[in-house]
Amino acid sequence: MNVFQSLPLLGGLSPAQFMQRHWQKKPLLVRQALAAGRPLLSPAELFALAGQDDVQSRLVSQQPGGWRLRQGPFSRRALPPLKRPGWTLLVQGVDRHQQAAHELLQAFRFAPDCRLDDLMVSYASEGGGVGPHFDSYDVFLLQLQGQRRWRIGRQKDLSLQEGLPLKILSAFVPEQEFVLDAGDMLYLPPRYAHDGVALSECLTGSIGFRAPRAGELARELLQRLADDAADLSGDAIYRDPAQAAAGNPGEIPAQLQAFAKDAVHRALADPMALDRALGEHLTEPPASVWFSPARRSYKLGGLVRLDRCTKMMFDRKHVFINGEAYRASGRDARLMQQLANDRCLSASDCTVLSPDAQALLRHWQASGWLHAPSQ
Ligand code: SIN
Ligand code: CO
Repeated sequence: MNVFQSLPLLGGLSPAQFMQRHWQKKPLLVRQALAAGRPLLSPAELFALAGQDDVQSRLVSQQPGGWRLRQGPFSRRALPPLKRPGWTLLVQGVDRHQQAAHELLQAFRFAPDCRLDDLMVSYASEGGGVGPHFDSYDVFLLQLQGQRRWRIGRQKDLSLQEGLPLKILSAFVPEQEFVLDAGDMLYLPPRYAHDGVALSECLTGSIGFRAPRAGELARELLQRLADDAADLSGDAIYRDPAQAAAGNPGEIPAQLQAFAKDAVHRALADPMALDRALGEHLTEPPASVWFSPARRSYKLGGLVRLDRCTKMMFDRKHVFINGEAYRASGRDARLMQQLANDRCLSASDCTVLSPDAQALLRHWQASGWLHAPSQ
């Protein structure tokens, strides 16, 4: 992607300008961000996805007694009639199930892949919405079909109404209001309050991002380092042949404290271990993702394309794919980085990979992580 090229998707801004002026800073409304064309998916296709066990979906409805939230999957009959106003069906990870949705998400890869999360699509009957709230992450709200009125505000008071199944602001103060038609898009930075109400039956796409929390990330990485440490140092057992008779049996011996420190230092000794653990963690596929192993074996000499559920990233020393780390250098590293960036690799590039790297492509193809000509 040329990050300096102005894009209709960003209202004529280039990705570089958008990231500098708006990303995590201020909203952006883009009229006709997407050219009118065939809608991404129909309500019927969305309802069918919401019926699948491996798809996360929620149904929010406003009823006389207040807000109601139910978790999917939902059979078609479990959904309210289309004519009933005030309900919304939200379906996560549509990009993992539908090629057109996956392709739409690729247009937002001016943010690093490790920040891009998924495409959620909601269907709302007239008057439907999830109430005034804020999200902890950046979001692009893309109107796919019908009309939705968004009211937004830089809300200082982020307190939530108590006792509700959804997070609804207790004192929402909107500052701006926009009606979005199909093709229009609104970007909101994290914690920007918003409330979208369907003016007609509508479909809205949310391009969502993820951002790690420091504590959770530390726990995840330390757990991975701890697992490696157990493998690395074998099961060295503390020994104390010089231990004197203990006059204070309750006291922890300084020698055991030193042994513990040494064990922790060893676990952190490899300077690349943390980077490796981070890459493995960031490319770990969600638990609901299953790859279908290839029926036929890989044949060299054709375009290689990553499966749409595959996560592939790299750092200076490693290539990561679906939770696995590989050391890479030289031409192999350059081509593997190209595969991660472009999500495909040409036949001629594949033929100049080393035999080891080609063996990896074969292994990934067999696992269903990438698709390639087969024999
Ligand atoms: C929706 O699509 O109804 C909700 C999206 C959001 O407010 O983040
Ligand atoms: Co939201």
